[in-house]
Amino acid sequence: MNDLLPSSSKLWSETEKRVKAVFEGYGYDEIRTPIVEHTDLFARGIGQVTDIVEKEMYSFVDHLNGDSLTLRPENTAAIARAVVEHNLIYSGPKKLWYYGPMFRHERPQRGRYRQFNQFGIEAFGFDGPEIEAEQLFLISRIWKVLGFDLLSMPRLEINCLGSRQERESYKSNLVDYFSGYFNDLDSDSKRRLKSNPLRILDSKNPNLGDMIMESPKMSSFLGANSKLHMDGLCELLDDFGLSYKINLNMVRGLDYYNLTVFEWKHDSLGSQSTICGGGRYDGLVEMIGGKPTPAFGFAIGMERLIDIIKQQDNLETSSVLDLYVVHLGEKSKKKSIVFAEEIRNSGLQVKVDVSNSNIKTQMKRAGASGAAFVAIFGDSELELGCVTVRPLSLDLNDNKLLQKSVPLETVAEFLLDSVKNIERNKCEKI
Ligand code: HAM
Repeated sequence: MNDLLPSSSKLWSETEKRVKAVFEGYGYDEIRTPIVEHTDLFARGIGQVTDIVEKEMYSFVDHLNGDSLTLRPENTAAIARAVVEHNLIYSGPKKLWYYGPMFRHERPQRGRYRQFNQFGIEAFGFDGPEIEAEQLFLISRIWKVLGFDLLSMPRLEINCLGSRQERESYKSNLVDYFSGYFNDLDSDSKRRLKSNPLRILDSKNPNLGDMIMESPKMSSFLGANSKLHMDGLCELLDDFGLSYKINLNMVRGLDYYNLTVFEWKHDSLGSQSTICGGGRYDGLVEMIGGKPTPAFGFAIGMERLIDIIKQQDNLETSSVLDLYVVHLGEKSKKKSIVFAEEIRNSGLQVKVDVSNSNIKTQMKRAGASGAAFVAIFGDSELELGCVTVRPLSLDLNDNKLLQKSVPLETVAEFLLDSVKNIERNKCEKI
């Protein structure tokens, strides 16, 4: 579990702002659900025999009533629960997005944390490949607005897991195959051979790698409808020119999926290279008590996303501060506090240095604050009713604005005019 420190928080905020804008721009509405749900929701929704439910959930008993509760390890089951509970699809399909912390008791390593954040989308009531293609386009737009170019784009892999019936015949074929290697299986896989053979395919044990690679593939068990669905999606992706690879080994680690599943991977992430994963889950809403509702969604891991953005180092985070106020002594410090409050009344963003540091240290802080201007409060100037205002940002130096002594009552006007001028000059340059 990580602290998010001020040195990174601007990058996080900027990323959050851009991702939310894309979600809203495609007509998705925000939903927020509690961090804690009944354990049973995840156990049934994600699947009893999955890594998440077997090993990774933070579950506890509520001593007041004996309920078993769990910190959400993911949000799809919780959103489906909210959709059923509030009958959100009574008036037709619903497109929802969410953002927030998830919790999994995993072995910590780069890109794998016990509290991590996900941005996600869940669309309810859409059964065709159109919603799938649209979400994949949306994700590729997110990469673009975050400054990824063609060379640094994550790679899209897709697969089709068929219908429940098709998966049943596939499962029995897998049991035959892995039974032939029974003694080479680890204890988890031996157990899963009986309970959920599909889960052997996403085992993290490297010794099973070759055996899994050569195992029978779901694609040989797909019926005509599943193939048509997959072809429909591929056609739409081709029409727009979004490149992808079909990965027949991809099963995803959660049991609720059917038909299309997908992952986006990025090489710079090391072993935890999946930055986004999702797929179709047409049976989940009904399983948790709603009426049959087709659904499709995905989640992006925020920590992994920030890891890549930091490596690329080309996402600009702009400061919101217009003015940083420094002082030359006790008397002017007091004055500066009241002055700043008056300036804020004009809608400007002001940070006052209320420390007892000397002027050199205060000026250093002003420079690092990202503010556009610094106002220097000195006792003698104050007696004349003036303050020294000096530009700090490069944009302002470009505009040849120099240090100036400005009457206190016109400082706000002066700053507003300067900011407007800079914006105008920027537009002219473009
Ligand atoms: P997931 O593949 O378990 O899917 O997680 C999605 C993304 O969350 C991963 O690709 C990864 O970027 C990030 N992630 C997962 N576990 C961790 C971790 N321990 N530390 C850091 N990042 C992590 C789901 O959660 C599904 N609910 C996605 C979905 C939505 N499917 C349909 N709708």
